[in-house]
Amino acid sequence: MNKIVVLDEQTIDKIAAGEVIERPSSIVKELVENAIDAGATAVTVEIKEGGISFIRITDNGSGIEAEQIPTAFLRHATSKIRTAEDLLDVTSLGFRGEALSSIAAVCQVELISKTPESLTGTRYLIEGGKEKSLEEIGAPSGTTFLVRNIFYNTPARKKFLKTPQTETGYISELMERMALSHPEVSFKFIAGSQVKLHTSGNHRLKDIIYNIYGRDITNNLLEVEKTFENGMKITGFIGKPVISRGNRNFENYFVNGRYIKSKIISKAIEDAYQSFMMKHKYPFTVLHFQIDTEMLDINVHPTKMELRFAENEKLYEDVYHTILNTLSHKEMIVQVSVGKEEKEECIQEKKESLPEPFEKNRISSMQMVSGQDSVIQEREAQPSREKLSLLAHQTSVPVKKQLSEEDTRAIREIHRPIRHHPGSQKDLSGRCSLLYHQKSQTHRLHRLPDILWKWNRWRTAA
Ligand SMILES: Nc1ncnc2c1ncn2[C@@H]1O[C@H](COP(=O)(O)OP(=O)(O)OP(=O)(O)O)[C@@H](O)[C@H]1O
Ligand SMILES: [Mg+2]
Repeated sequence: MNKIVVLDEQTIDKIAAGEVIERPSSIVKELVENAIDAGATAVTVEIKEGGISFIRITDNGSGIEAEQIPTAFLRHATSKIRTAEDLLDVTSLGFRGEALSSIAAVCQVELISKTPESLTGTRYLIEGGKEKSLEEIGAPSGTTFLVRNIFYNTPARKKFLKTPQTETGYISELMERMALSHPEVSFKFIAGSQVKLHTSGNHRLKDIIYNIYGRDITNNLLEVEKTFENGMKITGFIGKPVISRGNRNFENYFVNGRYIKSKIISKAIEDAYQSFMMKHKYPFTVLHFQIDTEMLDINVHPTKMELRFAENEKLYEDVYHTILNTLSHKEMIVQVSVGKEEKEECIQEKKESLPEPFEKNRISSMQMVSGQDSVIQEREAQPSREKLSLLAHQTSVPVKKQLSEEDTRAIREIHRPIRHHPGSQKDLSGRCSLLYHQKSQTHRLHRLPDILWKWNRWRTAA
């Protein structure tokens, strides 16, 4: 056995960095969180090669005083807590005092910062944990971090990075979550020379959802707002079942502005949706939880992705009932008998279209002029076979010849091939069909709840 020795500072820092800095997106997360903690209202993130060679993060926050800058890069150096008791009452995103030292241990870092009170700014260079220079420089108030060549001094770890494209994807997702978690901050994310995300910081969560997920999702949201006797508040939006997904990627929730993963919250959300959705489908949610810091332990995970809650069962019950009530107060699914209609084998695409919102006024003014209410009567009737076919086609999704595991699961009960089209199948409950669409020569997956939902929307559009 070798002799036992105490490791040197730099080795200790590199080991500690391993916990916090896994890939470029970890650096972006830590630096954006610092910017938010510094009270920034605008944060710009620019990356090159997926952040592997270059990350620049600029904020208009409080800045760091010149003489404090070297200290900020020491391990366990923080302005956010003073004693262990403060851990019970942390309202900032950071508190461990580890991020900057971890980033500087495995990258080449340049920092430019200026406080509003100071006349000049400071430029600081630190590489692999070694200070290179500290100088005065002209700069606007706020802080800019330039981080170059991640893991340049730990090649073994660099090997584990994915392609620049994949790393860009991770950072994109992170930036979307950051924007959703802080609607009051304007975020700009540039990858290569492309602006991938730009939010206005106008406090409106729905605008950010629109910006990130687009019109279809935004048109299918239900608002949530509920305050509980223990002070917990849940606000945000949940998706109608029609916009469910095959994985949990769209299940977003934030506790006191922090994106986290929690088995309890996920389970409560999914259990509430259970009777509204098919199996193996997951809902769209963007929920903000405001919870008293005394009811939380945030110091249980190095990247702060997990929390411990003081009252797990109550949290489950509260979330479950909030979601269930929101879903059940809306008419989710209409009772329409489809019966044999589903036997369709080749769906005709007709030019018929549903009225767009702007057409509603025109339709109602036409009715006022003619005194007819035929349009409304038509909408309240059962869907015709043609209408149903059209809706079915509009709500179906193309499926590759080689079905994914998820699609296979969704139609796992299928065992009755439809005549004439060998690739067409449907499950016996009639909730889901895989049809071969001759015109486009593709398979399309039709889900009954989606068709019914679309029909319901059309019916009630007037
Ligand atoms: N963008 C910034 N603007 C102003 N001050 C900053 C900024 N980034 C870092 N700092 C200062 O540097 C200190 C160290 O930052 P660092 O991220 O290492 O630790 P932390 O945020 O306190 O805790 P954690 O390791 O949990 O993130 C912070 O406490 C803060 O005072
Ligand atoms: Mg921090």
